[in-house]
Amino acid sequence: MKPEFPPGNMPGHVGIIMDGNGRWAEMKGLPRVEGHRRGAERAKEIIEASKEFGVKALTLYAFSLENWQRPKAEVAMIMKLLEVYLRREMYEFVKEGIHFRAAGDLNRLPQGVRNLVAQAEALTSACKNMVLTAAISYGGRDEIVRAVKKALQSGASPQDISESSFADLLDTKGLPDPDLIIRTSGEKRISNFLLWQSAYSELYFTDTLWPEFGREELLGALRDYQVRDRRFGAVKL
Ligand code: FPP
Repeated sequence: MKPEFPPGNMPGHVGIIMDGNGRWAEMKGLPRVEGHRRGAERAKEIIEASKEFGVKALTLYAFSLENWQRPKAEVAMIMKLLEVYLRREMYEFVKEGIHFRAAGDLNRLPQGVRNLVAQAEALTSACKNMVLTAAISYGGRDEIVRAVKKALQSGASPQDISESSFADLLDTKGLPDPDLIIRTSGEKRISNFLLWQSAYSELYFTDTLWPEFGREELLGALRDYQVRDRRFGAVKL
């Protein structure tokens, strides 16, 4: 069944900080990894729903650079989960016309995950329905520093650098800035996610923990966005 949206004003690009897997598991008396497993299932549901609702780009914060500091066993389980997820879902992405991309310092990922990321990117590169970016081993400041390094390495001079040429050096090259950023689990901060790109993003916070964030809640967030008044720093005359 098609959802009833008021006409127009849909976010083209939605970013999601998927937070609260650990707390969800702890509340249920389960190991944290069960929260991540359930979180990955939710990611699948939300990817499908986003496409259905006409979102053109979806960026999911799956693993931050700071997350590398978690206990070794938890990091290993998340990496395994990513591997299993990508191996299985990349064919689904092709079927659904979803172009998969990754953002982040991929050099730090285990070789197996890196290979699968490259394979999924290549396999889906011609897909046109939606761009799905997985931010993995990602930090917004790190992305900006890596972009500065790329500019210096290319021998660019100050007059070559503009906001748009700089944006082309970021991992999100070619994507529009996110219109809407959703964060689950009640925390109200950006946590190093898409720092450059979120300059004018609308923010939506919900107390729902990520493993409980379903299609209906996504619909609620999109509807909330639709009635916002975005002025980008200007006044309406
Ligand atoms: C945040 O919950 C979640 C993570 C750090 C890992 C996210 C991983 C997934 C959702 C699964 C993989 C995703 C895909 C797309 C395959 P938290 O552990 O920080 O929760 P807490 O704040 O309650 O401890």
